[in-house]
Amino acid sequence: MQPPEARPGWLLDEVASAGRENLDAGHAARYDAIEDAAAGDEVALCVGLGLTSDSTVVEIGPGTGQFTLAVAPLCARVVAADVSPVMLDVLRAKVDRAQGRVDLVQAGFLTYEHEGRPADFVYSRYALHHLPDFWKAIALARIHQMLRPGGVFRLWDITYSFDPAEIEERIESWCSTLEATVVDGWSRGDIEEHVRDEHSTFTWLLEPIIQRSGFSIEDAEYSADGIFAKYVLRRL
Ligand SMILES: C[S@@+](CC[C@H](N)C(=O)[O-])C[C@H]1O[C@@H](n2cnc3c(N)ncnc32)[C@H](O)[C@@H]1O
Repeated sequence: MQPPEARPGWLLDEVASAGRENLDAGHAARYDAIEDAAAGDEVALCVGLGLTSDSTVVEIGPGTGQFTLAVAPLCARVVAADVSPVMLDVLRAKVDRAQGRVDLVQAGFLTYEHEGRPADFVYSRYALHHLPDFWKAIALARIHQMLRPGGVFRLWDITYSFDPAEIEERIESWCSTLEATVVDGWSRGDIEEHVRDEHSTFTWLLEPIIQRSGFSIEDAEYSADGIFAKYVLRRL
């Protein structure tokens, strides 16, 4: 990652916007115990979409690397790019035992410079919402550039598919799925912080950005509560 002084003054500071908890070593150490990223199912989906032992995969925002480590044995190379030093430390400690080629990079959506063969797959789960919508558009354009034509971007994020008029009902009912005080796990406060301080957006705002960035939306799956969206995006 370029040192801050080498970056233009107008560029978003991706570390500062990475989310308080993602910069906390204690949270990174506990992460795998509190979050199951469904990596096996996600890898199977990628295989169904054409991932082979020849594929190059880039994961942006891998955190502790659940998907990265699951996909590594099935492809030629995975690059895991995250802005959080503490998340990368946890992932680095696992990489020695990993099968396959895993390259770790401290960089983000706005700063990762892809080298080598163009990516066949880009993967990102629960990370894009750290960028405001203007920067999401820049991130999507950069992902488009790192993928080969016909390559796939699998995006899974907290993205709202409800109408703004429903905010109170939808967000309150999401918040009420968790206890106020939790020792080892997600709490109501974590959801409140997410909604208040991070940049999850509406599906109907994100989707035109996706299309404008040169992707076709091959599949869009919205959770019944309107909080989560999973996309299969194909680079045109
Ligand atoms: C909630 S964790 C998700 C980790 C993993 N993808 C998963 O699904 O379990 C979000 C991750 O995104 C990373 N992140 C936040 N902003 C980022 C950015 N601009 N570029 C790359 N990674 C970022 C955080 O450091 C953190 O590791």
